[in-house]
Amino acid sequence: MKILVTGGAGFIGSAVIRHLINDTSHSVVNVDKLTYAGNLESLVSVTDSGRYAFEKVDICDANEVKRVFEQHQPDVVMHLAAESHVDRSIDGPGEFMQTNIIGTYTLLEQARSYWQNLPENQKANFKFHHISTDEVYGDLPHPDTHDGELPLFTETTAYKPSSPYSASKASSDHIVRAWHRTYGLPTVITNCSNNYGPYHFPEKLIPLMILNALDGKPLPVYGKGNQIRDWLYVEDHARALVKVAAEGQVGETYNIGGHNEKQNIEVVATICNILDELVPNSRSYKELITYVEDRPGHDMRYAIDSTKIKNDLGWVPEETFESGIRKTVQWYLDNQEWCQRVQDGSYQRERLGASS
Ligand SMILES: NC(=O)c1ccc[n+]([C@@H]2O[C@H](COP(=O)([O-])OP(=O)(O)OC[C@H]3O[C@@H](n4cnc5c(N)ncnc54)[C@H](O)[C@@H]3O)[C@@H](O)[C@H]2O)c1
Repeated sequence: MKILVTGGAGFIGSAVIRHLINDTSHSVVNVDKLTYAGNLESLVSVTDSGRYAFEKVDICDANEVKRVFEQHQPDVVMHLAAESHVDRSIDGPGEFMQTNIIGTYTLLEQARSYWQNLPENQKANFKFHHISTDEVYGDLPHPDTHDGELPLFTETTAYKPSSPYSASKASSDHIVRAWHRTYGLPTVITNCSNNYGPYHFPEKLIPLMILNALDGKPLPVYGKGNQIRDWLYVEDHARALVKVAAEGQVGETYNIGGHNEKQNIEVVATICNILDELVPNSRSYKELITYVEDRPGHDMRYAIDSTKIKNDLGWVPEETFESGIRKTVQWYLDNQEWCQRVQDGSYQRERLGASS
């Protein structure tokens, strides 16, 4: 298949493309605007494969998106392009509304017109895979304040987004479902929990903690650090996404999660323990932990029930949190030049999203 991947220069998109080129025979067209979060350096290992093409295109630009469809004739679209950082969405929600809502709408419209004109056999096999987040469901009861069984997000959990980011992703999910129901566009949606792993932009919790610790800088933990996320190693997510793109049932939604509920403070402490072992210092890195003002509207707990993708498509994660976080810390130790280059000029690990 020829797969059009949007946002392929980002954290998850680049993992998807590396997986597609290294482990399958599919070819890829990467459509990316290259915002601060997009780095073609994350793709150097696949660019000369002969099955990879890059288009620097904004998904909000209908004419350019149309040209890309006509020129490359994809069989499948995997739509990952988005503004993705909650803290940035608090500081400046406009870009999130533009890319995540208008961009998804623009891509859907161009996909629809391309799909409608395909020959019957290609039309029957075409698929538009929209990649979304568990944050659309809002937050779940937290063990500190809830007695009894703790619920998980399922594919039928009602949407209740809390941040400008999650609200824009929820909107895009609704628009994708409407294009399936109204126009019959063959769509499939996945909602995934927090990812971590190599090539993660250093503004997100795990790379920020690793890099600050190595520089001897404070490790800023929001609020009490007791917020729970369900962590999934990015390469496990990439494998799940390619499975859904190839085998997922049209019209369906699949939740993807790692069965790894951890409080943020546990994640930070684990990173410190690994660094204490790999790069020992006179004092433990834990002494750098600093509690800072919480994020406005911060969701307390996310956790995914991924029974459906396991039963229907046979996907389960390969990494445990312990194996994945160790690989991740090692990757950042081995790739500090990448970290330096992607931060140059744009982001210097300052606090984002503190203002309500
Ligand atoms: N990171 C997570 O933990 C997580 C979890 C679940 C779902 N998701 C979803 O997965 C997708 C990818 O997330 P990520 O963490 O890789 O994000 P990212 O911010 O690392 O990458 C986003 C990519 O999209 C590109 N992009 C942004 N605006 C664009 C536009 N207008 N036109 C074309 N390209 C544009 C950027 O240049 C970048 O390469 C997003 O849709 C996100 O909502 C992320």
